[in-house]
Amino acid sequence: MALTIVIILCFLSASLVSSIVTLQNPSFELPPANLNTNSASQFVLLNSDINTIPGWSYQGTVWYVTAGKNVSLPGDGHGLQLGPNGVISQTFSYDGSDDYVLTFTIAPSSPDCAKQAIAVSVSGPSVSKVFSYQASLGKETWQTYAYALWRNELIPTSVLTVQIESVTARSTGNSACWPIVDDLLLSGINYPKVSVGNFILNGGFEVGPSFPQSSSQGILLEAESNIDPSSPVQSALQYWIVVGTVRYIDSKHYTVAEGLKAVELVSGNPSGIAYNTVFLQSGQVTLEFYMGDAGDSCVGVFTVVAQVGTRKWNFTTRSKGDGSSNKYSLSFNAPTSPTEVVSISFASYDETRNSNNVLCGPVIDGILGTYSNGSPSTRLQNSLVIFCLGLVFTFLFLA
Ligand SMILES: *[C@@H]1O[C@H](CO)[C@@H](O)[C@H](O)[C@H]1NC(C)=O
Ligand SMILES: *[C@@H]1O[C@H](CO)[C@@H](O)[C@H](O)[C@H]1NC(C)=O
Repeated sequence: MALTIVIILCFLSASLVSSIVTLQNPSFELPPANLNTNSASQFVLLNSDINTIPGWSYQGTVWYVTAGKNVSLPGDGHGLQLGPNGVISQTFSYDGSDDYVLTFTIAPSSPDCAKQAIAVSVSGPSVSKVFSYQASLGKETWQTYAYALWRNELIPTSVLTVQIESVTARSTGNSACWPIVDDLLLSGINYPKVSVGNFILNGGFEVGPSFPQSSSQGILLEAESNIDPSSPVQSALQYWIVVGTVRYIDSKHYTVAEGLKAVELVSGNPSGIAYNTVFLQSGQVTLEFYMGDAGDSCVGVFTVVAQVGTRKWNFTTRSKGDGSSNKYSLSFNAPTSPTEVVSISFASYDETRNSNNVLCGPVIDGILGTYSNGSPSTRLQNSLVIFCLGLVFTFLFLA
């Protein structure tokens, strides 16, 4: 019995990589206190002297919004519109995760505003990033994004704060076009440190932001401008650097080739993912991956350019948009220097749209990197097994 527990714990430690961190009132379904319920308005201006929002602090101009006529939100319900200097924030306890990734949704307040550059700035403990609503990236009039709230502080604090702020719309004239925020979801991420039989960590994209229940459109991931290429943090998709915009998709709403999640290269020009690695062994290296479509009626010719260092390979497939995929592979010789950082990337340069005029593109999944002559990840895997056996025997001995 006890032995079973140790074994289970040991194997869990290698696979338990993400957890949901509870945010209070994440979809604003608990209404602000002292809300003027006589007001039939879809937009109720909050007064910070009178109205508190359960779980949230706020400043500046904030409206409590009910989905309806001009406003569509995931699962309908309510959201908060952030007007001039509008800021909301929530503090949560640090639970030992390596990183936190926030999933959030933004929506325009009218069809006219969908054409404007409505935007929010999302801040974690160390950095912030501006996200703009782009109508061409989904069929709903809201978009779901994700952002890594990475920390670069020397002494980790016991609490962390996530903050979302309105950004003044670049296009002037329509002062009513402010972003509506809804459906926040926070995940604590522990980096997968052991990848069994694969030198690419998170090659199947299984570790990433959490999908909201009511999200049918996937999660948009955008390139980070101030990224440190050697760091696995700062990206919502652990270990990967996003190029352009990609859509992170789940098997509940899309077709993925392997596991539960995959990446769709949607923006073109280019849209892609990159991975930096060093090769600990010399000799031939093989990369295998799935390329296909998400089953989202994306019809067209897809070309994915795979690049390792400066060498490129083109993979082309004709998509019927029915969710089919094929396995492809490429081989190259590892650089002789074990310290040389090599970038591996997969990118699409074309813009493809489905019949709803929504941007779509090739899906990449299940990237598997192996050495022809025995893999270091096999050695890692073996050392994990030895560690676990050691733990089991120690336990038996003590018992
Ligand atoms: C909906 O938006 C349009 C402009 O996009 C506006 O003219 C109209 O008044 C809005 N309707 C409501 C109910 O807010
Ligand atoms: C590979 O694809 C890229 C982007 O679609 C294109 O520019 C390039 O000409 C292609 N190369 C070859 C050799 O077909």
